Amino acid sequence: MKPFDFAYVVSEPKNNRPWLCSLFIVASLICGAYFIRSAFITKEYKDRLSSWEVINMLQNSKSDTCQIQCRPPGSEALPQGIVVKTSNLKMQPLWQDSVKNANPETSSNLLVLAVGIKQKEIVDQIVKKFPARDFVVMLFHYDGIVDEWRDFEWSDRAIHVSAVNQTKWWFAKRFLHPDIVAQYKYIFLWDEDLGVDNFDPMQYLSIVEDEGLEISQPALDPVKSEVHHQITARRRNSRVHRRIYKFKGSGRCDGRSTAPPCIGWVEMMAPVFSRAAWRCVWYMIQNDLIHAWGLDMQLGYCAQGDRMKNVGVVDAQYVVHFGLPTLGVTDENEVKSTELNTRKEHSTKSESPAPSESHQVNNRPEVRRQSFIEMQMFRKRWENAAKEDKCWVDPYQQSANKSTH
Ligand SMILES: *[C@@H]1O[C@H](CO)[C@@H](O)[C@H](O)[C@H]1NC(C)=O
Ligand SMILES: *[C@@H]1O[C@H](CO)[C@@H](O)[C@H](O)[C@H]1NC(C)=O
Repeated sequence: MKPFDFAYVVSEPKNNRPWLCSLFIVASLICGAYFIRSAFITKEYKDRLSSWEVINMLQNSKSDTCQIQCRPPGSEALPQGIVVKTSNLKMQPLWQDSVKNANPETSSNLLVLAVGIKQKEIVDQIVKKFPARDFVVMLFHYDGIVDEWRDFEWSDRAIHVSAVNQTKWWFAKRFLHPDIVAQYKYIFLWDEDLGVDNFDPMQYLSIVEDEGLEISQPALDPVKSEVHHQITARRRNSRVHRRIYKFKGSGRCDGRSTAPPCIGWVEMMAPVFSRAAWRCVWYMIQNDLIHAWGLDMQLGYCAQGDRMKNVGVVDAQYVVHFGLPTLGVTDENEVKSTELNTRKEHSTKSESPAPSESHQVNNRPEVRRQSFIEMQMFRKRWENAAKEDKCWVDPYQQSANKSTH
């Protein structure tokens, strides 16, 4: 407590006068003790600058007990109790009772969709499936159109982020920092071209929790969907699957396989991340590699344990992947009215839709080429990072040389 008293005296220099007066009155026996102290005070009084030194001194004297405290960089100048490390996406009223019956509970999960106005109806169906009580909705508008969503009753409670021609991963890196979304237990980071007739988010989450899946996706209806990877295809009479078997062709998968794409893998069109997994994945997303190709193969590193257990595909709750041309295609003819027809049409075949509209400008080939380039870059970066980090141990290296690929 002594250092604290001392600081108090320094900051209240008026106190010095009675102290100095009493110096002449009291007996020399007591005087000696006072003398040492007042000399110190007088010196401080003359030299105000050195009060910072005192503060440093005080902090040093506390440092034994305080060094253990872990403070976010930049917050060291603040008392710890005032430091708020995380935030959320809850909208706050301008004053306390301005919103009567405002939902007192804060939603515990997050639904994030990258959207264009052409998929308006499908997006509406997706959002309506997610109960407002349990989900905050965030839309990333890649076509810059925001106002045309206003006629949906849920539009005003959604967070709208708009940036023209940007990808889901570009948005995610910038607007889903783990400290901002720390409150949400699960994050659905979905594309817009998904049919949710056979999907119930709450059922899905109860399965995911029960199975301990940190990274997951709903299975794709193999009849109605565009399926790129066999592991995403739904299995009948199954709740969840984590691996596939493939005995023909290249890239075989059997019971001994330990790595993607045989096991521990989800695709990027409809991933669901636990809070902890997202905190890791966010760091893995590269600021400049906006198509994020190759990321899916490495997601298992963020599985909070063994990817063979904690990554899986939920069969019991499944979706249809329409595989609609979205970002990268501009269409002069508004297809709003025909999109539901398109949707049905695609329900019956699994081929990528051939854009037949005459006024369509298709930049998909360029986008694909760029995606491949980025994938190479990402692989290279990972390789280099793994090589250069002497402290990092690859948990999957052992399994890598046992694997069949
Ligand atoms: C967005 O991309 C389209 C091509 O898909 C292009 O025609 C348009 O000019 C781009 N807009 C901006 C603002 O870059
Ligand atoms: C294969 O695994 C063994 C341990 O089982 C390890 O010592 C070896 O370095 C690994 N080889 C490669 C090429 O990763």
